[in-house]
Amino acid sequence: MGPLPPSTDDRAMWDVWQSQFTLPAVTVADELGLFERLGDAAMDGGALARELAVDERALGLLLAALAAQDLVEKRGGLWAASASARTWLHPRAEGYWGPFLYRFRETIPLHAVLLACMKTGKRPETRYTGVAEWEKGAMDPEIARQIANFMHAHSLAPAAAVAAQPDFAAIGSVLDVGCGSGVYGMAMAQAHPAMQVGLMDLAEMVAEAGKRVAAAGLADRIDLIACNMFTQDWPQGYQAHFFANVFHDWSEETNALIAAKSFAALPPGGRIFLSEILMDDALDGPWQAASFSLMMLTGTLGKQYSLPEFAAILEGAGFEDVRACRSGGGYYSLVSAKKPG
Ligand SMILES: C[S@@+](CC[C@H](N)C(=O)[O-])C[C@H]1O[C@@H](n2cnc3c(N)ncnc32)[C@H](O)[C@@H]1O
Repeated sequence: MGPLPPSTDDRAMWDVWQSQFTLPAVTVADELGLFERLGDAAMDGGALARELAVDERALGLLLAALAAQDLVEKRGGLWAASASARTWLHPRAEGYWGPFLYRFRETIPLHAVLLACMKTGKRPETRYTGVAEWEKGAMDPEIARQIANFMHAHSLAPAAAVAAQPDFAAIGSVLDVGCGSGVYGMAMAQAHPAMQVGLMDLAEMVAEAGKRVAAAGLADRIDLIACNMFTQDWPQGYQAHFFANVFHDWSEETNALIAAKSFAALPPGGRIFLSEILMDDALDGPWQAASFSLMMLTGTLGKQYSLPEFAAILEGAGFEDVRACRSGGGYYSLVSAKKPG
């Protein structure tokens, strides 16, 4: 017996870590009075946000997580409590579980964090996730090392799966933007021996990626590019740009800027790829995207997006032929689009 090599399916691990949001989503909804309101009358997200005095965008992410748990449902554009919630979570129901759930408001730290996000629409100032470092455009090298390790673990399986996608076999050069540890770009270089790969990130993170590139013996195939994607010129000449878990860190407005920078740097006919866990088109699940969205809400400026939302961002920048497929890496999808020409 002993350790096994990685596979491309790490869903068991995602199910474990995402379970941390299961209970706080419910205790927060209970404290806000959400199940009572939606148990008494169906209403749209805006009206519910006003009644609960919470941020409408944050509430939308919570509703998606509750829908994925079958506690609320969306019909004809209105949200309503499910039969299960009206039985066990409506404060006037005989079977109300509130007096039991009440205790966990104190014992589970994510309850207070998520509640604060609902009220303000933003992560609390005091919450430390390391992400605020890159939002400043520079990082302490030790923080960069920790973030690279964190992301490498969660990206290893989907990176191998994405690299095996047939789309990449026909592409001679790829720029991995916001590369983190470089795990995706390295997987592509390993899967496609003729491919030239660029790894681009803030300087401190590229230094981390560089250590892994050297250790993998890929230094002659991979360019290391320290570049702030917002404030600096992007390298030209790559046939494709690849972003994994980058757009989910930012708002729609910021993503429009990133998409525009990518469009400007790609040659005519160039491709853009986004590796993300997608929300359903109706924004009411699945759980893997909805709970990941709660992590984004409590730690970043972003959320998980649906394909129509990505299509609006990418087409707004000039891309065409936006499509998505399940990339084969756990719960991830691969979104792609093309620059005309
Ligand atoms: C969630 S991580 C994704 C890392 C990697 N793509 C993955 O999926 O494992 C987001 C990455 O975006 C990078 N990033 C954030 N702001 C940036 C900027 N202004 N310019 C370049 N990269 C940036 C971060 O340093 C981080 O490595």
